[in-house]
Amino acid sequence: MMAMVASKSSLNYSCTKCGAQYPRWTGRCAECGSWSTVMEDAAPDNARPTRASEARAGSSIPFRSIASDASSPKLSLFEANLDLVLQGGLVPGSVTLLAGEPGIGKSTLLAQAALASANAGKFVMYVTGEESPGQIILRLKRLSKTLPESLRFLDATDAGTVAATIQSEKPDLTIVDSIQSMLVSGLSGEPGNVTQVKASAAVIAEAAKHSGSPVILAGQMTKDGDIAGPRLLEHLVDTVLLLEGDDQHRFRLLRALKHRFGPTDEVAVLAMTESGLESVADPSAELLRERPLETTGTIVTCLIEGHRPLLLEIQALVTPAGYGTPVRRSTGIDTSRLGLLTAVLSRRAGIKVLDKDIYANAAGGIRAREPAADLALCLAIASATGDVGIDRNTVAFGEVGLGGEIRPVSLPDIRLRECERHGFTRAIIPKGSKVQSLDRLEIIPVANLREAIDRSLIASA
Ligand code: TYD
Ligand code: MG
Repeated sequence: MMAMVASKSSLNYSCTKCGAQYPRWTGRCAECGSWSTVMEDAAPDNARPTRASEARAGSSIPFRSIASDASSPKLSLFEANLDLVLQGGLVPGSVTLLAGEPGIGKSTLLAQAALASANAGKFVMYVTGEESPGQIILRLKRLSKTLPESLRFLDATDAGTVAATIQSEKPDLTIVDSIQSMLVSGLSGEPGNVTQVKASAAVIAEAAKHSGSPVILAGQMTKDGDIAGPRLLEHLVDTVLLLEGDDQHRFRLLRALKHRFGPTDEVAVLAMTESGLESVADPSAELLRERPLETTGTIVTCLIEGHRPLLLEIQALVTPAGYGTPVRRSTGIDTSRLGLLTAVLSRRAGIKVLDKDIYANAAGGIRAREPAADLALCLAIASATGDVGIDRNTVAFGEVGLGGEIRPVSLPDIRLRECERHGFTRAIIPKGSKVQSLDRLEIIPVANLREAIDRSLIASA
């Protein structure tokens, strides 16, 4: 915010929590709102910038003589889901961050990869400052009856020790669980604060580059602040993977947010089971299995995750508001999107919900982040408001604009085929979508919300 106006050289204080910079000390960080976290930085050096006359010239080379990062050789992790999102595996000397909220399954997935790689004969070094060796053994034994010889443990929290061990032992794979538990001795601050996390990652990354040993760092991410999540370490690492889901549900999505060595468009759908995270062969079927039989305020939509279509039930509950501001609460759906769509429904489709409490939910703990879910959310709210059902075999997808218009979304044919495959018989989709007709699925193109509501609610159909 305002703190950024001073020139770079005079920003000598920074927040140890979020990294915001300030020209002078302040008791409270204006960026993240934390108290007593703004500290003076190490003394700035007063070196004068080098001039052209003093510098050595470089020499340019043709682009076509350079191998692209995507063509780098990849080392399989022997864990199908990680290999999928990594587009084949890890590049030698690369650093990968696996980020996710506490309890989501990062340590489980990394333990599975460690076991699989070690079983394939790789030397895997597992470093943790977060859990005791006894706890890790417990998890490993839960995942595998036997522990391979080449799966080794390093009990260290000093990033320098980890780096030196990587350079001397050169493991085929090093796992650091988690980067928040590491520290660089000599630097101020507790493990887990921004300075320590960044410095530890930098020290370990350097060792990976020098030794050619690939490293995976687990990074704890908070729901709001994102401490040491993808954003903080993004520029320090080659690849950022995100494991997401809801710890109340068993489904997890594993996706790449950044990948220097290939595209980021593969998404793996996993389920947490008694024996670790397992691939889900038919995620749509799994997600629809728990659908209630007869109720209002629910409809299925089809989203695209990576290259794959995913059928997801969207639910809404609408109740008269008590005093004060009506409640807008959602799980798996962006609350501000919910607020916006509520306003559009009210203004453009005559569904008067502005004074009602609204709860919305993407079932199964999967986040519906695509605007293609808009239409289903609006229909679920309309259905819940009037307490009028929607036929169970109807699906809907489409982006809703501020004018109440329904806008086309990407890959409609792939979505429609998935709906047909799972036995749906009617699909409400944006008018103007270019789609092929299907045998068992009636396609109903709609131009705006009013039309969509008219064509989907049972009473008015
Ligand atoms: P964990 O991997 O420790 O999460 P993170 O490292 O992201 O904090 O484990 C998450 C949860 O998974 C924990 O509550 C225990 C559970 N779990 C299973 O359900 N099955 C398993 O096989 C394992 C190892 C853990
Ligand atoms: Mg963990």
